[in-house]
Amino acid sequence: MSKNYKITLLPGDGIGPEIMQVAVAVLQSIAPKFKLSFSFETALAGGAAIDETGHPLPAETLTLCRESDAVLLAAVGGEKWDSLPSELRPEQALLGLRGGLGLFANLRPAKVLPQLIDASSLKREVVEGVDILVVRELTGGIYFSKPKGIFTDEHGVRRGVNTMAYTEPEIDRIGRVAFEAAQKRQGVLCSVDKANVLEVSQLWRDRIIHLASEYPDVKLSHMYVDNAAMQLLRWPKQFDTIVTGNLFGDILSDAAAMLTGSIGMLPSASLGEPGTPGVFEPVHGSAPDIAGKDLANPLAQVLSAAMMLRYALNESAAADHIEAAVLRVLDSGKRTGDIMAAGCQKLGCKAMGEALLAEVV
Ligand code: IPM
Ligand code: MG
Repeated sequence: MSKNYKITLLPGDGIGPEIMQVAVAVLQSIAPKFKLSFSFETALAGGAAIDETGHPLPAETLTLCRESDAVLLAAVGGEKWDSLPSELRPEQALLGLRGGLGLFANLRPAKVLPQLIDASSLKREVVEGVDILVVRELTGGIYFSKPKGIFTDEHGVRRGVNTMAYTEPEIDRIGRVAFEAAQKRQGVLCSVDKANVLEVSQLWRDRIIHLASEYPDVKLSHMYVDNAAMQLLRWPKQFDTIVTGNLFGDILSDAAAMLTGSIGMLPSASLGEPGTPGVFEPVHGSAPDIAGKDLANPLAQVLSAAMMLRYALNESAAADHIEAAVLRVLDSGKRTGDIMAAGCQKLGCKAMGEALLAEVV
């Protein structure tokens, strides 16, 4: 008997539809081998949803996501929608999904692949062997806390306000995800905060220290966020697992991604409480400049599908199989433009998809 999984696809904007097509083809082609089947349903999100319905995350999309086993998202956004008021911009689809599904834990791995070392802008000896997991809190902190808004005082002076707040339960639940992730990795966790200045960070640090007693096998350290940004560039190999709040995680995960030299390769997972569907998506954006030109790198989308198999569906053998196929394709010298190197063969998005399909069978 094959297991059937209900997957909501959100191709979104820009290169989203092209890379999604590759990931779906890969999932479909490995399904029989692992006795799986997938029911895919495609829904609107981001600019595509704004054009059709006037809203970046239509209620039907959120409902469909809630009723599925997992959500595979490509990317949203583009210049076309940049002048809209912030509550109607494509990015609201991401925030709405995170808030609406309670996806408080964002896992962003940044692993330097031996095949792509020379794509990094940093020296080989600095990045070789880097393997970092950033665990970013995703539904709290300055992105979601109240009060927020632009307020006008009695003199007509406007004041923009966001609030960085964390409750103890919010810190504890992301802390646990991070300690558990570190246990499955090298057992080294660095908690990043700004406790020298911010009370919210003092509470963060206090709770993380408190939790540490439950994970005696994890070696915990703390770092201020400014230093962490510096250390990520200076000697990234000192990091294994990083846990941090929403805003710091947004910034540091981009820095960590760039160590690999190839943001087009990095997947991510956004997870909630057990039983809620997670959202799996590439770290990169919708790249409107190359959309529809068959130039996009579909590998981050394919690796996001592998993360979905591993974290949401518990199908780690199938996930391993896809990841190994990606490495073999790179080993054979096939590259999309963003990761092109001397002596390699340059492929478009479709041809890269076909190369992968030939490897996964
Ligand atoms: C990310 C993005 C989003 C964020 C934006 C597009 C809302 O930068 O996923 O890192 O800030 O979280
Ligand atoms: Mg970001």
